[in-house]
Order: sequence, then structure tokens, then C-alpha cells
Amino acid sequence: MVRILSGIQPSGEPHLGNYFGAMRQHVELQEKGEAIYFLADYHSMTSIRDAGERRRFTRELAIDYLALGIDPARAILYRQSDLPEVTELAWILTTVTPMGLLERAHSFKDKVAQGIAVNHGLFAYPVLMAADILIYNADIVPVGQDQKQHLEMTRDIAGSFNHTYGADVFKLPEPMILEDVAVVPGTDGRKMSKSYGNTIRMFAPQGELKRAVMGIVTDSTPVDQPKDVSTALFQLWSLFAKADERDELFARAKAGGLGYGDVKKDLLARLVAHFSPLRERREEWARRADDVEDVLAQGVGRAREIAAPILAAARDAAGLGAAR
Ligand code: ADP
Ligand code: TRP
Repeated sequence: MVRILSGIQPSGEPHLGNYFGAMRQHVELQEKGEAIYFLADYHSMTSIRDAGERRRFTRELAIDYLALGIDPARAILYRQSDLPEVTELAWILTTVTPMGLLERAHSFKDKVAQGIAVNHGLFAYPVLMAADILIYNADIVPVGQDQKQHLEMTRDIAGSFNHTYGADVFKLPEPMILEDVAVVPGTDGRKMSKSYGNTIRMFAPQGELKRAVMGIVTDSTPVDQPKDVSTALFQLWSLFAKADERDELFARAKAGGLGYGDVKKDLLARLVAHFSPLRERREEWARRADDVEDVLAQGVGRAREIAAPILAAARDAAGLGAAR
């Protein structure tokens, strides 16, 4: 059976970019194979410094996943730090990772360019990510476009370990990136991202959703003039539409006569209809804190069973511990 693995950092409330770029696929894929998802709290240490905030974001993200339909009887959901073995594998992998590989990482270079005070964890981030994936020998890793390079690095690191120790311990995983939702635009037209303050939070109360949708940046093209459907408003709207609905609305937009205000109203209605039932389910899980912890505890137990023999094989191949 195909093994699917992905993680999300608990770094704030998830938004439509996280949903369409990653989380929705995670829910769908649990039907297609053995799915393993984790809350990347070790990774969040590279940016979040407040312990209470990390705990809260991690718990909230677990609730979000359950609300979106992750079925704990099927998929494995766990907290990354409940499997500290992953940090051991990260050390093993870091010794076969060339410096030059990490120095080329876009996300690290971006942070440096932004003048962020970078730490070694941020530099080593892709190695921990490789460990997350390789510890299960995952086949497929569904992520957004921005993680593509990290996946390529994982493949390089896996190959480097296998080559160094002349052993076929790690499988090279395949990224899975849905091209049509590769980059969900934010309300200002740039990529939707927490760091740009241009997000639409999927579980926001209706008033906030309305403000966010009404605030999507549009130009001053008059109603009767043709509209550019590649802009944020139309792209966001089309996430909630079927292909034929999209073709029809886009044709009307291009012909002129369609106002931005009407598209915004319809987008808001679709957003509310889509997320309201999920918000109710979220409120239910939020009241069941102990059950959420049970899901994570069972999840890590199942994860550990899969990980243990693979980590043991890596240790053995590298000559760590007593000979087997
Ligand atoms: P943010 O940029 O808001 O901090 P994260 O980096 O935590 O988001 O992303 C978590 C997951 O969501 C990743 O798999 C990422 O590829 C996906 N993702 C985030 N923003 C977008 C977006 N605007 N479009 C598509 N996918 C996204
Ligand atoms: N780096 C990913 C992100 O920012 C989160 C992540 C950590 C991840 N480890 C992973 C994703 C392993 C897929 C596989 O979204």
C-alpha cells in the first residue's frame, strides 16, 4: 500500500492557502493509502519562542485537522515531538548532507535576505524535514509548491546516505503538488501567507470572513468592462466552484457586465457554506480536549511501529550501536 506522509507547522491559524494547498489533499488522501500526518512542533521552534503559544497552536492544529475530516481510525495523526527518534535520524542525516545543499535553500536565503536573525535550526530545517519523511520510507509527500525544493533535498539526502553506507535503507519519496492550487493568492494578490497578513482564516467567524472578502484588492475597471480573471478575486472564487461554473463566470467576466461586488458576495456565500459545517465539527472537537490527546497518543504509537525498523536499519548501516 502506498504510504503518504505530510506535516504542517503549528505556527498560527490555518488559512485558505494551507487548506487548498495542503490540508484538503491530506484529508482526501487518507482514502488512498496509509496516511501519516504530523504537527511539526519541532520545526516551529525555528520561529516561535513562546512555549505556551507553541502548545496552543499545536493543539489547535490537531483540532483543525480533525474538523476537516482526518479520521483517526484510518490516518495516523501525531505530534512530531512525541517521536523524538526523528531528531536522532536528523543527526544521522545531517552528517551526509553537504553544506552547499543547505546553502542553496530558497527559504533559508529568503529569511537571510529579509534580515531575520537566523539560527542553526533554520539552516538545518530541511534535514529534519528529510528525517520526518525518510523515517517511514514514505512514497508520496503532498505539499504546496513552496515545499518543492525541500522535497528535492530529501531525495538528495536519502541518496547520499544510501551511497555513503552502501546500503539501500531509504526510499526516494515523490512530491505531490496540485498545480491548480499550487499558489493560493491572498487578499492583496500576493501569495496568501501568515507572514504577509493577507490571509482568509478558514474557521474565522462570519464577520471576519466578510471583512476579508470585501477587502480583496480589485482595480477600478467599471462594471461593463472586461475583467482580468487571473486576479486574486477570481482565482479565490474559482476554488469554490466546479469547472463548468468557473468557465461560465470567467466568460461573463471577460465579456464585461460583471461587477466585482457581485463576485465578492457570491464568494462569501460559498465560503460560509463550505466551512460552516466544518466549523461546527471543530467546535465539537474543541470541547473534547482529552479525546484529542488520545488521538495523538494512539497516532504516535502507530507511527513508532512503522519508524522503528527503518531507524534501526539506518543505525545498523552506519555502524551505530552493537552489531545486530
Ligand atoms: P504560511 O506561508 O502561511 O506560513 P506554511 O508555510 O505554514 O504557511 O504552509 C503550510 C502548508 O500550506 C505547506 O504545505 C504550504 O505549501 C501550504 N501553503 C501555504 N500557503 C499556501 C498558498 N498561498 N498556496 C498554496 N499552498 C500554501
Ligand atoms: N516544512 C513544511 C511546511 O512549512 C512542514 C513540514 C515539516 C513537512 N516536515 C515535513 C511537510 C515533512 C511534509 C513532510 O509546511
